[in-house]
Amino acid sequence: MTDPADSALQSTSRGTAGQHVPGDTARRHLSGVHTGQRASGDTAQQHVAGGAARQRVFVHEVCARDGLQMEPHFVPTDDKVALIDALSACGFARIEVTSFVSAKAVPALADAEAVMRRIRRAPGVVYAALVPNLRGMERAIESGADELNLVMSCSEAHNRANLRRDREASRAQLMQVLRGAAAADVHCHVSLSTAFGCPFDGDVPLETVRTAALDWWAAGATGITLCDTTGMADPRLVRRTVEALSRDLPIDALTLHLHDTRGMGLANALAGLELGVRRFDAACAGLGGCPFAPGASGNVATEALVHMLACMEVDTGVDLDALLRIGAALPALVQRPLHNPLLLAGPRTRRHPAPAEGVAAR
Ligand code: COA
Ligand code: ZN
Repeated sequence: MTDPADSALQSTSRGTAGQHVPGDTARRHLSGVHTGQRASGDTAQQHVAGGAARQRVFVHEVCARDGLQMEPHFVPTDDKVALIDALSACGFARIEVTSFVSAKAVPALADAEAVMRRIRRAPGVVYAALVPNLRGMERAIESGADELNLVMSCSEAHNRANLRRDREASRAQLMQVLRGAAAADVHCHVSLSTAFGCPFDGDVPLETVRTAALDWWAAGATGITLCDTTGMADPRLVRRTVEALSRDLPIDALTLHLHDTRGMGLANALAGLELGVRRFDAACAGLGGCPFAPGASGNVATEALVHMLACMEVDTGVDLDALLRIGAALPALVQRPLHNPLLLAGPRTRRHPAPAEGVAAR
């Protein structure tokens, strides 16, 4: 790499404040969920000195996939690999690396194979890839993806815009993908787009989301991600949805993928957290958005989510300092300014020298 992002990304290392999440734990945790077992307290909670247990949340970093998929500047393969390698040192449970989709549909991720093959894998981190169809499955498995993230929408219009077929046709093809991946011993996670509203069809009935989630769970998906594709969720809707689904699904089967399009990302995450959701997607520097949804914009910023959880004494295992260094390097990578309040202000633990006496504070 030749830009200032280079040194920042290359020099990111596992800081003392951060603990590395043993991804095996994440995988075992998921496997436990997969077989219908509730996660044990040991995986769900970290024990701290004095015997008190702290809440544990698993953050899935999606900046390299969702984050880059609609960036107009093509981020060179070397830079993508350096970004993911730097993220690998931060302590994430899962990193979504890329998408094995049509290069015509998503030119920004046309180098999926090269990226997936060239990243340096941190022990235990689950390296996932988005897959829309059988061709994508073959490419992803051949390139060494640990887990596939199958995607379809809860609304017809977004499914057609995104995948160019109706929901039933997508479901049928993705069920084949699920079976094909199982034969290759690769787990599939299912992301349900527009779970909280569709920019074309409007409100999405809760029953549609519930039916889809139960359908994929029964079919053997490792987990279900509820995606707020264009930031149409609000805390009450998140609560209603999570409450309804958690009656029939283990809460640890659910991940929330929240776009901050309308500034409600963290509030929505908190609503989920308060109901026991422990898995969240997020994108460093708040990058992201679906190219096939008008008005789409970034995910909840990972550093903002990790920072909020740290303030609440919820463990994520993520090294916030390392993540902030990566976030600071991202505008150079995507070649545009990014609005990132936490990068400007720094964490709440940041201290400034007090002004000299007699000098008015500004
Ligand atoms: N990887 C690479 N190329 C693929 C592919 C895949 N997984 N699936 C299809 N293609 C190619 C086909 O080879 C064909 O290429 P050609 O025009 O050179 O012959 C072309 O794409 C069309 O194939 P078809 O099967 O007719 O697919 P489609 O046009 O109906 O497109 C998708 C369906 C899903 C492949 C396409 O809409 C897509 O990639 N969407 C991206 C979804 C996405 O990433 N959204 C954002 C994240 S939610
Ligand atoms: Zn998204």
